Amino acid sequence: NNKEAKFPADFLWGASTSAYQFEGAYNEDGKGLSVMDIAPHPEDVADFKVASDHYHHYQEDVQMMKELGLKAYRFSISWSRVIPDGKGDINPAGIEFYHNLIDELKASNIEPIVTMYHFDLPAALQEEGGWENRATIDAFTKYAKLLFEEYGEKIKYWLVINEQNVMINHPGALNRDEIPSKKSLYQQCHNMFVAQAKAMILCHKMYPEALIGPAPNIMAVYPATCNPADSIAANNWASIRCWLYLDVAVYGKYTDLVWQYLVDREIEPEIYAGDLELLAEAKPDYIAMNYYATATVGASKGDGSDLSARGGDQQIMLGENGVYRAEQNSYLDSTDFVWAIDPIGLRLTLRKINERYHLPILITENGLGAKDILTEDGKIHDDYRIDFFNKHFKQAALAIADGVNLIGYCPWSAVDLISTHQGCSKRYGFIYVNRDEFDLKDMRRMKKDSFYWYQKVIESNGKIL
Ligand code: BG6
Repeated sequence: NNKEAKFPADFLWGASTSAYQFEGAYNEDGKGLSVMDIAPHPEDVADFKVASDHYHHYQEDVQMMKELGLKAYRFSISWSRVIPDGKGDINPAGIEFYHNLIDELKASNIEPIVTMYHFDLPAALQEEGGWENRATIDAFTKYAKLLFEEYGEKIKYWLVINEQNVMINHPGALNRDEIPSKKSLYQQCHNMFVAQAKAMILCHKMYPEALIGPAPNIMAVYPATCNPADSIAANNWASIRCWLYLDVAVYGKYTDLVWQYLVDREIEPEIYAGDLELLAEAKPDYIAMNYYATATVGASKGDGSDLSARGGDQQIMLGENGVYRAEQNSYLDSTDFVWAIDPIGLRLTLRKINERYHLPILITENGLGAKDILTEDGKIHDDYRIDFFNKHFKQAALAIADGVNLIGYCPWSAVDLISTHQGCSKRYGFIYVNRDEFDLKDMRRMKKDSFYWYQKVIESNGKIL
C-alpha cells in the first residue's frame, strides 16, 4: 500500500508509563503499599520499590519529554499514594506530587492523560477481599471523586482501568501468589465494570467537558487455518478476551456469547439490583487501547493441551476445552521476549474497534521490550525499536486513511521502567535509565537513538515515516 502516512494536525503524539513501574518511592511521604509493591517477584529480576525513581526525577523526566516533543503523556496515579489504605485518610503529600507533575507537564505544553488505576490496588483493600468485595467499588468511587475534585480543572483525558481484561484473563502475568478461581475472577471483573461505570458517570456530572473511557488491551484474533472450527475458536477467544470489555463499557451489556459461556460453566457473576442500569447509563467518550500483538487461535483438541499464553507469561493458564487453543503464527516475527510483532494487525485491530463502536480511539500502549545495550560512549543504538515503531506508525496512518478516528498514539514507554514480571532489563523507553536489576547505579537518563528518531516523527507530524 503506497498511501502517504498522514496524521491530523492535532494528533496526540505521546508516550506512556504507570505509577508502580516508574515512580519508585514505594513507601515514602506517607504512601501506602499496593499489591504490586508486595507482590511475590521472580528472584532474578528487580521489584518495583525503586523502579526508575521518577518520584524524585519527575522534573528532569518532564523536561526530557518536552525535548522529545511529546504532545501528550499518559501516566497513572497510584491510588495508595493519595489514599494510603484505599478508602480512609487522604495523603496530602501524594496529592501534591500529582499536582506538581501535572503542572510541570502543562507548563511544558504536554497534555496529561491520566489512568486512574493501573494494576496497583491498595494492599489494605486486597486484604479485605480486593475486587471480589463490593466495598471496593465504593472505595474506588470515593477515590475517583477525589481525583476529579483535585485534578478535574487540569485534566481533559481520563482513563478508568488499565487492562481490566489482562487482570481477568492473564492473572499470572501480574505476579500473583495464587491464581483466583474463574468464578472469583468474573465477580472481580463485574465489580470493576460497575466501578468503571460509576467513575464515568461521576466524571461527566462534575466535568461535562472532560473525556473519559476504558483502556483494555485489544488484539485482532486470527483463526489458525481456514477450517471453520478454527474460526469459531478465534471468535470465542476474541469475545472472551476483548469484546466483552468494550461491549460492557460502551453498550452497557454483557456480550451474549460470553454470558452464555459463563452460565454454562457456572462462573457467572452475581449482579446486584441497579448494576445493569448503571452499566447502561455510563457512556465513554473514547476508547483507549493497548496493543502489543495479535493472537492466533485454533479449535480445541480437547486433550488438555489448550493454552492461553500471553507472550512472556511465567505462568500459563490452562484453556477451556472446546473454546480455543493458542497457536504460533508462522507469518510473524517475534521479539526477544517471544511476543509476536504484527504492525498490520494493529491496523486490523483499529478497524475492528471502529466498526464495532464508532468512537474516537487513543492508543495508550504499544512498544518493544528489548535488552538494550549501553555503549562505552554512552549511546543506545536501538534501531530495532525504530524499525518496530516505523512499521506500526505507518499502519496507524493507514487505519486513519481507512476512516478510523485515531486521536493519538502513546508508545510504551516514555522512559525505561520495570516490566510487569521481567525486570528492568526488558526495556521499552525512548530514554534509558542507568540501573541494573539490582545495582541502582546513578539512575542517569540517556537518550536512545529512538529518542532522536521519534523527535523527528513528532516534529514532522509523521511525514518522515
Ligand atoms: C501492559 C501493561 O500489559 O503491557 C504494562 O499495561 C506492561 O503495565 C506492558 O508493562 C508490557 O508488558 P511487560 O510484561 O513486558 O511489562
